[in-house]
Formats: sequence, structure tokens, C-alpha cells
Amino acid sequence: MSDPRHMARFWDERAREHAEYFVDNRLDYRRGDYGPDDPEDFWAKGRRDFDVLLETVGAPAIGERDVVLDIGCGVGRLTRVAAERAAHVHALDVSAEMIDRARANLADRDDVTFHVGDGATLRPLEDDSIDVVVSLVVFQHIPDPEITYGYVREILRVLRPGGWAAFQVSDDPVIHAMDHPGPSLARRILARLRGGLPGGQDDPAWRGSAIERTRLEREIAQAGGRVERLEGAGTQYCLVLVRADAA
Ligand SMILES: C[S@@+](CC[C@H](N)C(=O)[O-])C[C@H]1O[C@@H](n2cnc3c(N)ncnc32)[C@H](O)[C@@H]1O
Repeated sequence: MSDPRHMARFWDERAREHAEYFVDNRLDYRRGDYGPDDPEDFWAKGRRDFDVLLETVGAPAIGERDVVLDIGCGVGRLTRVAAERAAHVHALDVSAEMIDRARANLADRDDVTFHVGDGATLRPLEDDSIDVVVSLVVFQHIPDPEITYGYVREILRVLRPGGWAAFQVSDDPVIHAMDHPGPSLARRILARLRGGLPGGQDDPAWRGSAIERTRLEREIAQAGGRVERLEGAGTQYCLVLVRADAA
């Protein structure tokens, strides 16, 4: 299993390098914090991404009394949307630097608790304490799928009976292979020297890994849940709706 401390170091570096870009790499890396987009556009895209996740899997609406957990919250892009709809949000990330930025971005909210996680579990969250879990573009970056399966078991530990989770995993092993074609090495070195290309693109903590669908479904069933819907099988954007068994 990969060392979660490597993921923490990697994402801390990315946060210092250009946090917004590494949270949403549709931004133009070379053009400063928000690239050609203004900050409002960055947050509006977060809102759209959040709704696409929930709508694609047919998730129920988040209730105003719900307690939500956002795994891999980054700078708080989706956390803000969840906080507007729920009673309370727990925002967890392996990177203390990302959490610092999320805390600053959401300084206007008193209904969010931030946690620097250990990169593999949902500690310090308690059993049966969460109504809704969301996670987007996080598990696809985890270098070892065993860690992702561990997170899935953890999701079912913290969910209350009948609670639900909507999250994205990669179901496309090819995209994570080190020999997957990207810009040539020479081009990348040149661009990096000019400050034009993002760092860490060959790092296992960026490349990530894919899950196996049958194993994922087995882990969920064994941990006390069931897959209610799975969209995007075989792709990097495989979206899953999981329901924790009723008590
Ligand atoms: C591409 S960003 C996405 C952030 C956020 N989900 C969003 O959509 O705006 C990936 C985030 O996952 C976090 N992350 C990566 N590996 C993690 C792990 N093992 N446990 C928790 N968070 C992790 C990174 O620090 C980073 O903030």
C-alpha cells in the first residue's frame, strides 16, 4: 500500500504551487490564480459539478437537517454548496495546505468543521454520525486502490443507517498507466522551466489508480451497504450512489 504521508506532501506542494488549478484543472495554469476565469466562475463550476454528480446518480436532495461529509474537499469548492443546503458539513482532506485555503475561503460560514485526514481513514469522524457523503475527483488520484476500498468501508462506518453516499471513482485503468501518452518529456521540461506546466504530473499521487467494479461492489455489500446506481462504468468518471443498510 502507498504511504499516505506521500499523498499529504504531494498535495501540500500542489496547494502551494497553484491550489485552484489542481482542484479544477480546466483552469489555465499559466494565468494566475483563476486563469482566464474569474473567481465567481470557479465557484459556479463547483456548484454545477456538485449537481451533475448528484443528478447523474439520482441522489435524493440534501435535507436541511442533514450532516454532510465532503471527502477530499480541496479549497472548499463543493463544501460551500453542501453547506448552503445542509445543517452541517465536515470537510476532510489529506493536505493541511488545502484545508487552510478551504478554511479561508469559507470563513463566512460557521457550519463547517475542517479535518486534516490521515489519507486512508475518516478518523476522527464517529460511527453512524453522517447522513450524506460526497466526493469528487479524489479517489481517482489515490495511487493504490486498496486505500480507496478502505475509504469505501469507512464511508459505511460513518454513515447512519439509511444514509447515502455519492462519489466518483476511476474505472479506467489505462488512463493511470505511466506510459499513457501525454506531452513529450522534452516539451514538459521546457515548459516547466518557463513556468508553464504544472508539476507532479508523473507522480503516483497525481496519476492515481482505478478500482475494479466487482471488488468495489463486494466491499460495499460486506460493509453494510448497497450500490443503488452506478453510471460511467469503464470510465475515469464512474459515479456511484451507495445506500447504507437500514438499522
Ligand atoms: C482534484 S482535488 C478535488 C477537490 C474537491 N473535491 C473539488 O472537487 O473541488 C483532489 C483533492 O483530494 C485530496 N486528496 C488526495 N488524496 C487524498 C486522500 N488519500 N485522502 C483525502 N484527500 C485526498 C487532495 O489534497 C485534493 O485536495
